[in-house]
Amino acid sequence: MTTNISVLVSGRGSNFQSILDAAAEGLIKDVNFACVISDKKEAKALERARDNNIEAVFVDPKSFSSRAEFDREVIRILKEHDTDLVLLAGYMRIITEELVDAYAGKIMNIHPALLPAFKGLHAQKQALDYGVKVAGCTVHFVEADLDAGPIIIQRTVPVLPGDTEDSLADRILVEEHKAYPEAVRLFAEGKLEIRGRNVIIKEWWKKIAGRKSGKKTADSW
Ligand code: GRF
Repeated sequence: MTTNISVLVSGRGSNFQSILDAAAEGLIKDVNFACVISDKKEAKALERARDNNIEAVFVDPKSFSSRAEFDREVIRILKEHDTDLVLLAGYMRIITEELVDAYAGKIMNIHPALLPAFKGLHAQKQALDYGVKVAGCTVHFVEADLDAGPIIIQRTVPVLPGDTEDSLADRILVEEHKAYPEAVRLFAEGKLEIRGRNVIIKEWWKKIAGRKSGKKTADSW
């Protein structure tokens, strides 16, 4: 079954591009990019969408009286495009509970820190200022709280002497571009299951548990 993906963006869209590239390379199969929605007219991500013949929609926050009204319009567009999976990819708005509920378990976000540490803006700077030795990124399902929700994938990088916010952000971004396509692939292949705070990656269990026991049980797919 094809997974219809819609992407919410505000900026350059390099994560969106990494997912497009992975799909073009055949690493992610059976997905269709339904639409890209931006709250910023000049977002480079919209340009990337147009370059790939994907519908690019600018929703102007100024045209709506509240966040709730804005998100209702977003939900309408997502529904219109039969969206199965919503990706927040550098989307700078906090989404309403109504949107979270409309796509419960079907919205992912990427954050440039090892959650639950360093939520919010300038996560890389927060990590540097705190003095951590390891930083990284997190792909997670979205809940109503900011940068919360069950974690799907995390990837780490070292923090090196002399790092600046930019150098650390660049190093993390390389890992983001691996983590997000991987999470999308797992979703599209039906291999993610949310159990409370945990995301079970069925493939992992199949490979590891299946190999160890040498036989599949009803619970090991
Ligand atoms: C990334 O660092 C992502 O983790 C954060 O915003 C940035 C978006 O970059 N949420 P891009 O628009 O995907 O290039």
